[in-house]
Amino acid sequence: MPKRRISLTQYLVEQQREHGHLTPPLRLLIEVVARACKRIAISVNKGELGDVLGSTDQSNVQGEIVKKLDLIANEVLIEANVWGGHLAAMASEEMDSIHVVPDRYPQGEYLLLFDPLDGSSNIDVNVSIGTIFSVLRKVGHTRGVSEEDFLQPGRQQAAAGYCVYGPQTTLVLTVGNGVAMFTLDREQGSWVLTQEDIRIPEETKEFAINMSNLRHWAPPMRRYIDECLAGKEGPRGKDFNMRWVASMVADVHRILSRGGIFMYPWDQREPDKPGKLRLLYEANPMAFLVEQAGGMATNGQRRILDLQPTKLHERVSVILGSSQEVRRVTEYHAA
Ligand code: AHG
Repeated sequence: MPKRRISLTQYLVEQQREHGHLTPPLRLLIEVVARACKRIAISVNKGELGDVLGSTDQSNVQGEIVKKLDLIANEVLIEANVWGGHLAAMASEEMDSIHVVPDRYPQGEYLLLFDPLDGSSNIDVNVSIGTIFSVLRKVGHTRGVSEEDFLQPGRQQAAAGYCVYGPQTTLVLTVGNGVAMFTLDREQGSWVLTQEDIRIPEETKEFAINMSNLRHWAPPMRRYIDECLAGKEGPRGKDFNMRWVASMVADVHRILSRGGIFMYPWDQREPDKPGKLRLLYEANPMAFLVEQAGGMATNGQRRILDLQPTKLHERVSVILGSSQEVRRVTEYHAA
């Protein structure tokens, strides 16, 4: 008997039937984002042949140089989503302010946030990169839409996911009912369900952090890593392994696949900057996925999904993954 293949559409229809919170416009939104990711995957794969590598002469609102693929992915996502009637507005790492759906199109009830191309430093060196997205409902019934509408705690996300462009192109999704993984079948051009109800093991011996910043971290962070490095002879009594892809999508994908802890903590070089990663379109969607898979996500003090954002491009410290380790790091911060 050939294995039954479930497409993304079929999965979403089943979620819609069995779980009332997946509305038809949300289903359309997710399908449109998934279709946009297919287009981005084609550009990523073309690489030099598609003239998509290298930088533009622009920098974004965070002062980072914008790569050609950052812009391409941003445009693909906007173009795909702007006309369907499911969205009120979009926000992106690559846009200073929100992109409101123009009057010529119907306005929907959802807000879409994305990091169009995560892991920019890996684009030109052929290492896994990805797209991260988060979906919020527009709350309140005021006409129009403003930046304030996006400033909702992550626990209010209606859906979140990412697509990783690696050896396989994989879409990982939650609509608040567990985490599912879809692999792109290039011949068919369709997303096929390849794993359902993903669970992150509670325990792990694998950590991911940019170790070159060790001397700049706060004492609780250093304590945790020092203890991991001490291995069997240290207080943890076991050896740890380290992995750091420098693409959050790839590091989180590994953690969803086999466990681990990912950290991008505050550091003292810029004390007023809470962290490197962005709360609304990087930390929140990843925290939602990780919690839905049984893991934990905090900023060292609090659950990420409970943080009240104060601005669109807000940054945050991130500690996420296997619950036993995330709890330990968070307890060290409280001590
Ligand atoms: P960007 O959104 O600019 O591509 O940022 C990438 C992020 C994240 O994906 C990754 O975990 C981290 O930055 C890598 O940072 P380092 O360069 O410090 O390793």
